Amino acid sequence: MARMVIVGSGVVGQATGKGFSKKGHSVRYVDVNPQTIAKLRNAGLSAGTIDEVVWDNVDVVLLTVSTPSVNGKIVLDHIEAAARQVGAGLAKTDHYVVVVVRSTVPPTTTEERITPILERASGKDAGIDFGVAMNPEFLRQTNSEQDFARPWITVVGSNDSRTLHILHDIYRPFGALIVECTPTEAEMIKYVNNIFNAVKISYFNEVHDICQKLGIDSNLVGATVARSAESMWNPLYGTRGGVPYGGACLPKDTAAFMSWVRERGWDHLILEATIETNHRLEARVPAVASPDKIDEMLEKVHAREEAAQNVFPTAGVFGGGTAPGILDGEHISGNGKKAPIENN
Ligand SMILES: NC(=O)c1ccc[n+]([C@@H]2O[C@H](COP(=O)([O-])OP(=O)(O)OC[C@H]3O[C@@H](n4cnc5c(N)ncnc54)[C@H](O)[C@@H]3O)[C@@H](O)[C@H]2O)c1
Repeated sequence: MARMVIVGSGVVGQATGKGFSKKGHSVRYVDVNPQTIAKLRNAGLSAGTIDEVVWDNVDVVLLTVSTPSVNGKIVLDHIEAAARQVGAGLAKTDHYVVVVVRSTVPPTTTEERITPILERASGKDAGIDFGVAMNPEFLRQTNSEQDFARPWITVVGSNDSRTLHILHDIYRPFGALIVECTPTEAEMIKYVNNIFNAVKISYFNEVHDICQKLGIDSNLVGATVARSAESMWNPLYGTRGGVPYGGACLPKDTAAFMSWVRERGWDHLILEATIETNHRLEARVPAVASPDKIDEMLEKVHAREEAAQNVFPTAGVFGGGTAPGILDGEHISGNGKKAPIENN
């Protein structure tokens, strides 16, 4: 069983700490807010400031401090301050400690900002004297403890195998699929996850507006599309990236619906951006017009997809993972082969 220190004992910190305690690990909560510390102590939990941590008795540190946005820009001051304090703690022990970034931070933060701070403050080398990992949290605030206890996925990003091994050991009992990647990939996965959710909500809000203007039921439209659109029921659909959509229907229907909306003086910002994104990609990827180049590209896609299949072993049940087309009359199927475009 691991001895854990949770640095930042708010929503995520407490859900994380309680979840690991239930699996038998010993957990000490750290915070800068005396009221939070007092509340945790009153609840019978081990809590205090970082200065009170006995570093010889620590195996894993989880950084779950706040990373707020101010004027739309992320503030990393809290997590950097916490990293400096943890680094100073690492200097006091010869024990191998794994430092896990669990706060949401922009891609490259763990490798380019947090790790150097830890190394400078400890005078030690990451990956040799101590471990560093990025392990994003996907819980919902309203359901934090249950979501931590029953994760639908666990992402562990680290460049060192000893650290990955330790994280596997502590997360395996939660039973979710564990995705191994680099810290930057883990950070990217967290943002892409949230932004994809936001895009989907905004898309259906624009659909809702148009439905209202037409006097029709947007709930019926949304709920039916949730069953009819392949991108809804096939989780790999459209996730590969690098290839513009094509085929007989998507370019034609997106353009036609955009003009129809514009003729009425209405907005559909996401559709506008979607068409523009595809045009830009088509301009950057002219090579897809050549069958040889397509095969070359598909080989790369296929290699990535094999990795993805290992990550999502059940993907096959969703109909083979078809993706948007690259040429009229063709699209890429889930097994990386060209296939005739379906009538969609
Ligand atoms: N709340 C969610 O639903 C949720 C879900 C997934 C990820 N996240 C991310 O997890 C991180 C934490 O979010 P939260 O909702 O738990 O925030 P929170 O505000 O509830 O808790 C953060 C805690 O960190 C403490 N803190 C700040 N600086 C500190 C320092 N230097 N040392 C020790 N403690 C310090 C604060 O006092 C506070 O108690 C954020 O990056 C957030 O984006 C949040």
